Amino acid sequence: MINMHIFTLSELKAAQSAMYLIRKYAVDKESGEALLAWLKPFEDYIYRKQGSWQALADHEKLNRSMIPKSGTPYGQELIDKMVLLIKEELHHFYQVLEIMESYGIAYESVGSSRYARGMLRHVRTYEPQALIDKLICGAYIEARSCERFAMLAPHVDEQLGNFYLSLLRSEARHYQDYLVLAQSIADFDISERVAFFGGIEAELILSSDDDFKFHSGVPTLD
Ligand SMILES: [Fe+2]
Ligand SMILES: [Fe+2]
Repeated sequence: MINMHIFTLSELKAAQSAMYLIRKYAVDKESGEALLAWLKPFEDYIYRKQGSWQALADHEKLNRSMIPKSGTPYGQELIDKMVLLIKEELHHFYQVLEIMESYGIAYESVGSSRYARGMLRHVRTYEPQALIDKLICGAYIEARSCERFAMLAPHVDEQLGNFYLSLLRSEARHYQDYLVLAQSIADFDISERVAFFGGIEAELILSSDDDFKFHSGVPTLD
């Protein structure tokens, strides 16, 4: 069976990068702190081995409304879409831990892959282009998860296959949310940029990769 630890980490990473975007671009300082506090029990569990995964079920919701920073016309839309996305990713994270428990697999930490890094390297350095590029990268990460869950589902047992299909349905929404956000923030047609990152992404997926992860390239055999 595919190494399930990589899923827990990808779900957490998805939540973290969405949170980074709202903190950087959309909310005031207090809201930013509330966001960090929301994620903390999950990060404590993963990076510091503190707490139990079962207790994380109580932390899936954000108990505070977010205040948009002044002067960000897209702030509210970014907050609404990303808060929902984080909530879903944290729930996925919990579900993965739950299903791992049912298969008797203990969580072990894994490092990050070259995939997201490889795309984010090409993000422009000035705004709002930087934000738009990051959103497009987010869309590719989500869309590729969606594709991989679809490919894997028929090859695993029914319980796991159904779980992958349930994840896939939200990843499909997530990638569309990222694209809609990117286009609504841009005052230009983003399709050229989407195609540009499509080229980078294809290279990362098709070239050989000695690190086997959910988003890795072609595994090298050794
Ligand atoms: Fe997810
Ligand atoms: Fe997602």
